[in-house]
Amino acid sequence: MTTLPTSLPGGTWTMGDLDVTRFGYGAMQLAGPWVMGPPADHDGAIAVLREAVELGITHIDTSDAYGPRVTNELIREALHPYPGSLHVVTKVGARRDDQGGWPTAREPHELRRQVEENLASLGLDALDVVNLRLGNAEGPQPESIAAAFETLVELQQQGVIRHLGVSNATPEQVAEAQGIGPIVCVQNMYNLAHRADDDLIDRLAAEGVAYMPFFPLGGFTPLQSSALSSVAGRLDASPMAVALAWLLQRSPNILLIPGTSSFAHLQENVAGARLTLAAEDLVELDRIGREQAVG
Ligand SMILES: NC(=O)c1ccc[n+]([C@@H]2O[C@H](COP(=O)([O-])OP(=O)(O)OC[C@H]3O[C@@H](n4cnc5c(N)ncnc54)[C@H](OP(=O)(O)O)[C@@H]3O)[C@@H](O)[C@H]2O)c1
Repeated sequence: MTTLPTSLPGGTWTMGDLDVTRFGYGAMQLAGPWVMGPPADHDGAIAVLREAVELGITHIDTSDAYGPRVTNELIREALHPYPGSLHVVTKVGARRDDQGGWPTAREPHELRRQVEENLASLGLDALDVVNLRLGNAEGPQPESIAAAFETLVELQQQGVIRHLGVSNATPEQVAEAQGIGPIVCVQNMYNLAHRADDDLIDRLAAEGVAYMPFFPLGGFTPLQSSALSSVAGRLDASPMAVALAWLLQRSPNILLIPGTSSFAHLQENVAGARLTLAAEDLVELDRIGREQAVG
């Protein structure tokens, strides 16, 4: 297998038999407020998705729960028929309620229905990567995932899913999934200030499994730290650029899925992540996570 060349920061990573750019795009921000309903600027959302592909991004992260259906339908409208190099990663395991909540939906029949819904809204015969979303809004929860993950393995054997991953998972749940079938990725919350998964990332790197940090820029609460501002100021870069460059330098198995609804921010993030952080910058940035951990 040949790895496609890319000019994007971070180069490429191979998930199973899929080559992806390490700089990807997270589509959640394209839905309406609190990830419910359509975007205020439909044409702007379409333009952001097309620009992501134009910039060379070959990995888009989504879920049929965003909107619900909104981001998947935007992806289909903007990009279908999909270029062969583009890989859409989706997730199942939660649904949306009328209040915008994210109730768990991990019974086998619910997972099968969500896979069918993702296939329909994305206009695909098979999904490249499906993450089983675990836990809840408070984060990962310790519980067995066997029945849910086995259902996805069955769907993989039936050919409607190519590769599997887990999301919002404890290290024990990652290991439990790996005992049932191979995974190509883990998608958990991780950024400069939230580093609970440091050991997990290193373990997955050694196993050749990708790690996709969600909320790489802090999510709904943008990353704020005096150390981040100080390093950014010294390098004449934005805090967002430093946060993304840091993730790319943190470990080769980290794949970026920063979210934005803004054409300009997408371009800024791609350009900004090229930054090379020196050893002294890394030492200063490393303190942010440690301070958050004790504070
Ligand atoms: N597995 C899970 O449970 C889970 C949970 C959450 C998210 N996710 C995935 O992770 C992806 C990333 O997470 P996220 O989008 O919530 O959080 P994020 O990438 O950490 O941050 C997105 C926020 O940063 C802002 N932003 C982006 N670039 C910026 C820039 N250059 N300057 C200023 N502001 C900027 C965006 O606003 P603008 O729109 O104004 O740019 C948006 O408010 C999502 O798209 C989704 O695919 C997965």
